[in-house]
Amino acid sequence: MEAPLTHASPPGRAAVLAGLGTYVPPRVVTNEDLSLTMDTSDEWIRTRTGITQRHWADPGTATGDLAVAAGERALKSAGSDAVDLVVLATTTPDHPCPATAPEVASRLGLQNVAAYDIAAVCSGFVYGLASAAGAIAAGIAERVLVIGAETYSTILNPDDRTTSVIFGDGAGAVVLRAGDATEPGALLGHDLGSDGSLKDLIIVPGGGSRQRSAAAAPGAPEPDPADAYFSMQGKPVFRHAVTRMAASSQAMLDRAGWPAESVDWFVGHQANVRILHAVADQLGMPRDRTVVNLDRVGNTSAASIPLALSDAVAAGRITPGDRVLMSAFGGGVTWGSTALVWPDIDAN
Ligand code: UT7
Repeated sequence: MEAPLTHASPPGRAAVLAGLGTYVPPRVVTNEDLSLTMDTSDEWIRTRTGITQRHWADPGTATGDLAVAAGERALKSAGSDAVDLVVLATTTPDHPCPATAPEVASRLGLQNVAAYDIAAVCSGFVYGLASAAGAIAAGIAERVLVIGAETYSTILNPDDRTTSVIFGDGAGAVVLRAGDATEPGALLGHDLGSDGSLKDLIIVPGGGSRQRSAAAAPGAPEPDPADAYFSMQGKPVFRHAVTRMAASSQAMLDRAGWPAESVDWFVGHQANVRILHAVADQLGMPRDRTVVNLDRVGNTSAASIPLALSDAVAAGRITPGDRVLMSAFGGGVTWGSTALVWPDIDAN
């Protein structure tokens, strides 16, 4: 007789959304504020991106601090602090080593749980959801805290107006629990992808083994201090973001068996309102079904989708029973989508 598989997932077992919590640091930086220190204007930022303000953490506040605040709220929303895995998506970890997730778990009182970081830049949250759902489906975990948290203000080059005006800091978290695939809140599948040949489009060139190793070679030039900062080639990123998010969203809709016109809310990565509208157009969805909160928080990378979800729930837009499609695109380059019927939860 064959031995049973240790991690066989029971039929119909799925990851179900049980809680949602978010946090943004209190300091608001408006477009006007930025125009005082760099060659930009409120008009340029608003018309090119849709952003009017963002939140930046004060010096001394790190990604882990925002993650703990959002994590606490998500656990409260779920009505239980029992989780057996913490997945933290971030581009701005507290340290290059170790991962930020174990310390966040410990500070949340989740002693000894499995905890790891995911680095998929702005796609980090949807990658985190897929990773958590996989752990639940495999029977590795019963309840998972998935957090997207960022302090991009720590890696923005103050001399680079093309990136400094776009990004904001914040954190969003959800609790996923094991449940049934037919329940409201069940994640209905995942579409994930990457194209590493485009890695230079979104990059922090310095601080990793490639530059350190190159710098150690005899006669190597001094690294450029700007290499410590985030850089992005906006125009090609815009094009790829639209194409990939539209294709990934469509793949997810096909998997869920949802016609585009049946989707109540498209919650895309909040990079640029023009990108969100272009994706909606390609999918054949009305633009007013697109959730937009980037006007108030900017592009918060891995935190952007949970922050947008929370904003739409608080505004009474997303309500229980609504069909919600999520999709993201980010550095790597990476992309991904998932979908669910919104459950009846108390979001914080
Ligand atoms: O989160 C990961 C995914 N990220 C994204 O999806 C971002 C995708 N890219 C974008 O959203 C847009 O490409 C940006 C918002 C980054 C830039 O908008 P754009 O319409 O592509 O502008 P551009 O880069 O082509 O720049 C147009 C002009 C340039 O001047 P010239 O060469 O026409 O004289 C820029 O130098 O605007 C200038 N510019 C600015 N002017 C005022 C660039 N940044 C600024 C600024 N303020 N902050």
